[in-house]
Amino acid sequence: MSENIFKDNILQGKVAFVTGGGTGITGGVARALAEAGAKLAITSRKIENLEAAAKIITDNGGECLPVVCDVRDYEAVEKAIAATVEKYGKIDIVVNGAAGNFLCKANELSTNGFGTVVDIDTKGTFNVCRAAFEELKKSRGQILNISATLHYLATPMQIHVSAAKAGVDAITRNLSVEWGRYGIRVNGIAPGPIEDTEGMKRLLLPELKDKLVKRIPVGRFGRIKDIENSALFLCSDAASYINGVTLVVDGGQWLLGTSLG
Ligand code: COA
Repeated sequence: MSENIFKDNILQGKVAFVTGGGTGITGGVARALAEAGAKLAITSRKIENLEAAAKIITDNGGECLPVVCDVRDYEAVEKAIAATVEKYGKIDIVVNGAAGNFLCKANELSTNGFGTVVDIDTKGTFNVCRAAFEELKKSRGQILNISATLHYLATPMQIHVSAAKAGVDAITRNLSVEWGRYGIRVNGIAPGPIEDTEGMKRLLLPELKDKLVKRIPVGRFGRIKDIENSALFLCSDAASYINGVTLVVDGGQWLLGTSLG
């Protein structure tokens, strides 16, 4: 895949607020937005992840404000949004990438374990959208929610994340309808299995990896770069009439129903 598929600086002048922007898929999306010219604020619970990610962005000539914030804490989210507006004057793009995940059988999962993931993924996404609304209204901005394909069929050991991401997709659709009138576009991306991530190392048992890749129609696992390119497309003016869509970026994997449980 070529290094840079898009025209240079397609997001010049934009300000992006990216939760979970320190690591993994959303860390890649944050870097890609910065490389496309956007100024960034990135949040996560861990300052060490944020500082490392911010250094890569600033070393590369970008601007990045790292803000420690647990998306479950609405007051902390409001403060993070306010710090971003104080530094850059506005917010044009919100990316909701903060997520929690682990493998656990439903009959062994505590109700607090289930609730914790729903709180981070679903309620956290709502918290950030809600807190950013006034700024997005002013900028006629947009929201990109990082979802998953786990809930399209059924994914054993992932009932908590499946329920949480189904909720995220509902938020994407509802807000696209309610906030479209303010010029705010709300979309999502549902990545399939992405190989160069911590999640893949933790969540896919090695003995299942070969079995799974053989059942991906395009014949390979996804890469963070695949999600970066989709995010850039959806955040750019090329997608200015796309609203309420969760774009599946999985090489066709879910259509084959490749659940391995
Ligand atoms: N299996 C079963 N239950 C688990 C679990 C696991 N691997 N990890 C957490 N839980 C349960 C806990 O037991 C607890 O429930 P309990 O009080 O009934 O025992 C509940 O979830 C909350 O766990 P806790 O560790 O207190 O919550 P936390 O807010 O600190 O972190 C996560 C929760 C989900 C975010 C944590 O697993 C984590 O930090 N994961 C790494 C980050 C991540 O998942 N990123 C996404 C990559 S795709």
